[in-house]
Amino acid sequence: MDLFEYQARDLFAKHDVPVLAGEVIDTPEAARAATERLGGKSVVKAQVKVGGRGKAGGVKLAATADEAVARATDILGMDIKGHTVHKVMIAETAPEILEEYYVSFLLDRANRTFLSIASVEGGMEIEEVAATRPEAVAKIAIDAIDGVDEAKAREIVEAAKFPAEVADKVVNVLITLWDTFIKSDALLVEVNPLAKVASGDVIALDGKVSLDDNAEFRHDWDELHDKAAANPLEAAAKEKNLNYVKLDGEVGIIGNGAGLVMSTLDVVAYAGENHGNVKPANFLDIGGGASAQVMANGLEIILGDPDVKSVFVNVFGGITACDEVANGIVQALKLLEDRGENVSKPLVVRLDGNNAELGRQILTDANHPLVQRVDTMDGAADKAAELAHAAK
Ligand SMILES: Nc1ncnc2c1ncn2[C@@H]1O[C@H](COP(=O)(O)OP(=O)(O)OP(=O)(O)O)[C@@H](O)[C@H]1O
Ligand SMILES: [Mg+2]
Repeated sequence: MDLFEYQARDLFAKHDVPVLAGEVIDTPEAARAATERLGGKSVVKAQVKVGGRGKAGGVKLAATADEAVARATDILGMDIKGHTVHKVMIAETAPEILEEYYVSFLLDRANRTFLSIASVEGGMEIEEVAATRPEAVAKIAIDAIDGVDEAKAREIVEAAKFPAEVADKVVNVLITLWDTFIKSDALLVEVNPLAKVASGDVIALDGKVSLDDNAEFRHDWDELHDKAAANPLEAAAKEKNLNYVKLDGEVGIIGNGAGLVMSTLDVVAYAGENHGNVKPANFLDIGGGASAQVMANGLEIILGDPDVKSVFVNVFGGITACDEVANGIVQALKLLEDRGENVSKPLVVRLDGNNAELGRQILTDANHPLVQRVDTMDGAADKAAELAHAAK
């Protein structure tokens, strides 16, 4: 999960990374009181999860509270690279900025380690600096066990050639930033710019944080979720711990195993070319050992999607054999019908793999009016596309 800048700021503050005061608001008028609390001037910053806000006009100085209201009016509702601005942060204005640096910690998957990236040429996009002046960007691997102590922080400071007069302050930033990274189970913490201001202080003026969703169980991240941006079906699926992504087609998809589901999307899109260009309506992987309950949860989400006109259940029996899956489908439909859900969309089921014959027999015996069995993946995709097109 990527955080907004204001959330990153709050997280930094909690771990003693030096930041300026800031508060998030969602109406222009609220900019007035917030700016007054900051002594009558502020920086109005669009909160969107995309870089280049400054260049897009999403970061503006306001010399008075009135100006802050005017800038918030301009920025709220603005579109920045396809992201609508719903919130702005009213930030304390930094004292005169003398220099802008870049520091980050991230997971380096390719090298199976953590990595620190640092540069005294911050402010602008680090990718650009890395491309045009690679010697200006220091990359230091960090051992997961040893982490960043003072010695490691000094190594980074030296490698990136930070000026001597800010060395101690940058060391402090690196140590507190590492603390943020580890304690928050982050995949990325980035500060750009890390600013040297007139007083000689070094302050994080902008923060990017990406948290590891796999670690959510040991944190309280409820507040951090962007409910406004979440698709309601995706939110409902998340509640049920389903791997679901909403797409914009008409054929609902359920499969077991991410690879199988990905290829199911492909074959359905391909088959759709012969049936009015219908497309997959979603990605849903119910995983290896899916129970009837999980199948029911998956079907409930998909049948609840008004865009869905037909459903393709594509299962390859492995550890969970096809007979168990077939029973799961039959029970899931009964469960939904008993619950009074509207189960009215045709289901095409393809079962193959472990105990396929037994599974197919169970579906045949159940003889559910909405369920059709097609035994090949291409054939089933074609049938599901045809049914979706017919119902459009
Ligand atoms: N609180 C602040 N006080 C003074 N200046 C600020 C403050 N916050 C940001 N700035 C200035 O605005 C610039 C852009 O802000 P920021 O880095 O937060 O946005 P950004 O999304 O990274 O934009 P860009 O990609 O265009 O740099 C900073 O490099 C800094 O010079
Ligand atoms: Mg920035």
